[in-house]
Amino acid sequence: MFKIMYKKELSPGIFHMDIEAPRVAKKAKAGQFIVLRVDEKGERIPLTIADFDVEKGTITLIFQVLGASTMQLSALNEGDSIVDFAGPLGQPSEIDGNMGTVVCIGGGIGVAPVYPIARAMHEAGNKVISIMGAKTKDILIFEDKMRAISDEVIIATDDGSYGVKGFVTTALQQLVDRGEKIDQVTAIGPGIMMKSVCDATRPLGIKTIVSLNPVMVDGTGMCGGCRVQVGDEMKFACVDGPEFDGHLVDFNNLMSRGRMFREQEAKAKEHVCNIGLGR
Ligand SMILES: Cc1cc2nc3c(=O)[nH]c(=O)nc-3n(C[C@H](O)[C@H](O)[C@H](O)COP(=O)(O)OP(=O)(O)OC[C@H]3O[C@@H](n4cnc5c(N)ncnc54)[C@H](O)[C@@H]3O)c2cc1C
Ligand code: FES
Repeated sequence: MFKIMYKKELSPGIFHMDIEAPRVAKKAKAGQFIVLRVDEKGERIPLTIADFDVEKGTITLIFQVLGASTMQLSALNEGDSIVDFAGPLGQPSEIDGNMGTVVCIGGGIGVAPVYPIARAMHEAGNKVISIMGAKTKDILIFEDKMRAISDEVIIATDDGSYGVKGFVTTALQQLVDRGEKIDQVTAIGPGIMMKSVCDATRPLGIKTIVSLNPVMVDGTGMCGGCRVQVGDEMKFACVDGPEFDGHLVDFNNLMSRGRMFREQEAKAKEHVCNIGLGR
């Protein structure tokens, strides 16, 4: 059993949880994820390691309540336990001190997974410019954490309530327009956001890494559920990724596969609401 040591609702429907998992914390690296099951009957869901503390033996998860499993998870409190917590899984981010200027882009909940990567890039000695995107100011997360590890932070909100009015690509274009020499972009967020970032960087020849979130089942390369088309190769995001060269990813395929289980997901959510496990 894995105990919940800390829980906080960061903004409506977005939760921070620290889970006691010392062996996972000891091995965790930026870019990796875990797979958890809330209880014996629960489904396996992947969540990114948003932070880890080796001394406390904890893993930080930041998750958005979308359907049945995240709803069940959000209903638990400090002191409660979850039944399974497997990780760290996936390939760590490739990071060294010679990357130059890296623009780290997080959209919505994607700011949480981009944080440990940006921090590791900063600690390695690279210049980190972070772009954080949100629909509106009230749902922006991790601003203080991102400011602490970035040379510069640019915020973009869809409604203009904070920072630049527009999408993360609007802020990226401003960097390009001011003549910033960008060596790499790392973007994490909704599929459509990552696709738009790649469309913007491709003509500029800027290396762009994205972290993909296809539906995962076992998380160990056995089921094929997380397959993604990358160039002319079929990759399994759970073992080959989750990070890939964004210019090679078939985003249309990724997004249409992500919609495959809509009906079953809606039924599962309705069931959880009916039995009163939701928030
Ligand atoms: C490597 C990876 C890292 C992720 N990290 C985070 C994170 O840090 N924070 C966060 O909020 N979310 C993260 N996700 C997405 C998260 O796994 C889903 O939101 C979650 O599984 C939804 O489950 P549900 O039962 O609550 O919702 P459902 O109603 O079952 O699904 C809602 C949506 O979530 C996605 N989803 C559902 N099941 C899975 C699954 N088994 N694997 C992947 N996606 C699924 C689908 O897009 C689906 O339409 C990550 C996904 C991957 C693949
Ligand atoms: S989740 Fe099964 S192969 Fe990746």
